[in-house]
Amino acid sequence: MKTANVLKRMFSFFIFLLFSFVTKNMAYPLSTNSRWIINQRGERTKLACANWPAHLQTAVPEGLSKQPVDAVAEKIVAMGFNCVRLTWPLDLATNLTLGTIVTVRDSFQSLGLNNDISGFETNNPSMIDLPLIQAYKSVVTTLGKYNVMVILDNHLTKPGWCCGNDDGNGFFGDTFFDPATWISGLTYMATVFINEGNVVGMSLRNELRGPKQNVDDWFKYMQQGAEAVHEANPYILVILSGFSYDTDLSFVQSRPVNLSFSGKLVFELHRYAFTNTEIWSSKNPNDACGEVLKMIDDGGGFILRDFPVFLSEFGIDSRGGNVNDNRYIGCILGWAAENDVDWSIWALTGSYYLREGEQGMIEYYGVLGSDGISVRNNSFLQRLSLIQSTLRGPDPQPELDNLIFHPLTGLCMLQSSLDPTKTSRSAWRTPDQTHRLSSVRRVARPLVCRNGKPSQPLICS
Ligand SMILES: *[C@@H]1O[C@H](CO)[C@@H](O)[C@H](O)[C@H]1NC(C)=O
Ligand SMILES: *[C@@H]1O[C@H](CO)[C@@H](O)[C@H](O)[C@H]1NC(C)=O
Ligand SMILES: *[C@@H]1O[C@H](CO)[C@@H](O)[C@H](O)[C@H]1NC(C)=O
Repeated sequence: MKTANVLKRMFSFFIFLLFSFVTKNMAYPLSTNSRWIINQRGERTKLACANWPAHLQTAVPEGLSKQPVDAVAEKIVAMGFNCVRLTWPLDLATNLTLGTIVTVRDSFQSLGLNNDISGFETNNPSMIDLPLIQAYKSVVTTLGKYNVMVILDNHLTKPGWCCGNDDGNGFFGDTFFDPATWISGLTYMATVFINEGNVVGMSLRNELRGPKQNVDDWFKYMQQGAEAVHEANPYILVILSGFSYDTDLSFVQSRPVNLSFSGKLVFELHRYAFTNTEIWSSKNPNDACGEVLKMIDDGGGFILRDFPVFLSEFGIDSRGGNVNDNRYIGCILGWAAENDVDWSIWALTGSYYLREGEQGMIEYYGVLGSDGISVRNNSFLQRLSLIQSTLRGPDPQPELDNLIFHPLTGLCMLQSSLDPTKTSRSAWRTPDQTHRLSSVRRVARPLVCRNGKPSQPLICS
């Protein structure tokens, strides 16, 4: 790649550069220190996760008819993730027949997924006759063996694809969303996983939505849910999502979440290109990015002043053919890197056993391919590698350098901030190579290139 081309669309900023590769940092349980998630030693533990769906009709973690769970866990680590956001349907915890009697085999059989049964027999013979909750648990335990952290995400109530405004799963009081049942399910899961140290947090409910959304009920039930989880399992982070498919937490700016405990509260936000189709398709990418980042900040980015914000869903069609996705991804990666947020990509898996009536539907947003183990797009994975490393943390860092990040390729360049003309290590490199070049810890400050307006992010041209 020619430097001139590279410079054309560059998202650059100063950051604290504290490349510490997270696997060495495990010391559970986790807690929070202002906007950082920290381990037992007080060091930052950055969540660099992939969403692993297990909430669809089968209620079985996807991909396991194609690959042994150990191989998948190993691959997760090899791809640079340290964490999985593992989804679950509420029914798994509240319908004891579904959770504790129905087995993986039964579940596939009832849906006519016979190929998956034989695939499962080959790849995960020890799981196929486990009840669904035990199968789910064995995935969690295997991830723990590889030091992969797990966030349990209550994705919806009824097993199936998520989400619609009127699917009865969207907000407290909807047909399938009874607050008391939800709280009992949260308590159950928090209790079941109390001895699994790698379960570090729970997303209490994914993507609230629909006509019933209101602030008073949000506070009432989210606080109750958080208290219930904490009472059952005081070791895990409690993660709260917002309105409108988890894009809007603006209401916590004027009203704090009131909990009896502290040091465990995290907020989550989602953002896809299709959240803002109109903007991405109609404006130039710089203006669109500025507008969308303002929405993200107003919708919850501001929370970073006080609490961690977990960008718990984002992603693109990694075949690269969707223009809006391609515009959006550089912007969101820039935001994630600049703010060094915790995050989770949608999705880990490359296909679904059964989604919306289609057997074996391919997930083009998956980092894994349809075989469940190969990387779908290595150049896309490379673009994630900078945000997979820990860039900043709670401790002040003494030494100054700028890191310039180029989201189109995922490459980085270090530049002396004392003398910006000095880009002695001028070549664009992978974050890993940059890490080897840089001597340990370096510092920074927000933002270099802007295009005029304050806080306007930039794609340099
Ligand atoms: C519980 O799960 C079983 C097995 O899937 C199902 O047949 C039953 O209808 C469920 N019960 C309720 C109340 O949803
Ligand atoms: C916070 O909750 C406690 C216990 O429920 C209550 O006594 C207190 O008044 C609440 N504070 C605010 C500011 O709502
Ligand atoms: C990977 O992504 C790049 C960039 O978007 C794209 O050009 C390429 O075709 C993709 N490769 C595959 C195998 O999808």
